[in-house]
Parts: sequence; structure tokens; C-alpha cells
Amino acid sequence: MANISMTVNGSEVSGDAEDRTLLVEFLRNDLGLTGTHVGCDTSQCGACVVHVDGEAVKSCTMLAAQAAGSEITTIEGLAGGGDLHPVQKAFHENHGLQCGFCTPGMIMAATDMVRRHGASLDEATVRTELEGNICRCTGYHNIVKSILAAASEMGGAQQAAE
Ligand code: FES
Ligand code: FES
Repeated sequence: MANISMTVNGSEVSGDAEDRTLLVEFLRNDLGLTGTHVGCDTSQCGACVVHVDGEAVKSCTMLAAQAAGSEITTIEGLAGGGDLHPVQKAFHENHGLQCGFCTPGMIMAATDMVRRHGASLDEATVRTELEGNICRCTGYHNIVKSILAAASEMGGAQQAAE
């Protein structure tokens, strides 16, 4: 057992974690951030995706101790000041979810995708990069549509600011 500290959604947090404690367990059980889901025990579903130092990571594949000192963003930290993040807004407007179980992981993966590709993100890339995120409801079409809409919105905004 060790006391670990990290920044989660902009706040410094610390807690005791066993060596075997996964980051997703620390977030959900110790910090109460249950928006990050666990949908498998084989690292396949992607429901647990969070950002670690800005990059999408399956939080069931990382030990909490490995994340010590890092900046973590979970789905709870994505919206700013009561406004939905553009990717959340795009999922809402394009019906990118049904039951919502996969949605936190989809949105965190999508946000990283848009960050890396900007407005040049295309459908083939979205479908390839979603390989690690499983949805059992939507058939994926509206998820892809949502991510492309967000890329267009956010990429356009980035270009306008340049
Ligand atoms: S819970 Fe992490 S990939 Fe399924
Ligand atoms: S919306 Fe139900 S699993 Fe994706």
C-alpha cells in the first residue's frame, strides 16, 4: 500500500492504493468518479478511457501507482463551466448514444482523436481508431457522425484562431 497523488480534473488528489490497484478502480472506488465505466476484464471495450497527460488511455490497463504525478481528465472533467464540451454536444445532437454505457469512453477517445487530427479527421480514420471502443447499441453510424461533426466544429474553431 502506498499513498499516491495525482491531478484529477484540475484538482490535486491523493489516496492509499495497493500495488495492484488499477487506475480505473482508484478513480471509481476511491474518488467516486463513476462516470468512467468498466465493461470488460479483457481490455477490449474502451468504456474506461480517460486522458492521462492529455492522451487517451484505457484506465483498466494502468496501475494507479503508474499514474502518480500525472494529470488525469475523466468524463466528469470535460465540460467547462456548465457547458458541454463540443464532443459531448455533438454526441447529443447526432444521437451518438443509446444506453450510454460506452459513451464516456467513446467521448474521451473521440476528444483525443479530434485533438490529434483536427478538421482533417475523416470517416475511415474514425472507424479505424474506434477499434478499441465497443458499443452494443448504436451500430456505430451515429457515433462516427458525432465525432466527425465535433472535428468539423472544433477544427474550424482552431483554424479561425490561428
Ligand atoms: S474496462 Fe477497460 S477496456 Fe473494458
Ligand atoms: S450506447 Fe449502449 S453500449 Fe454504446
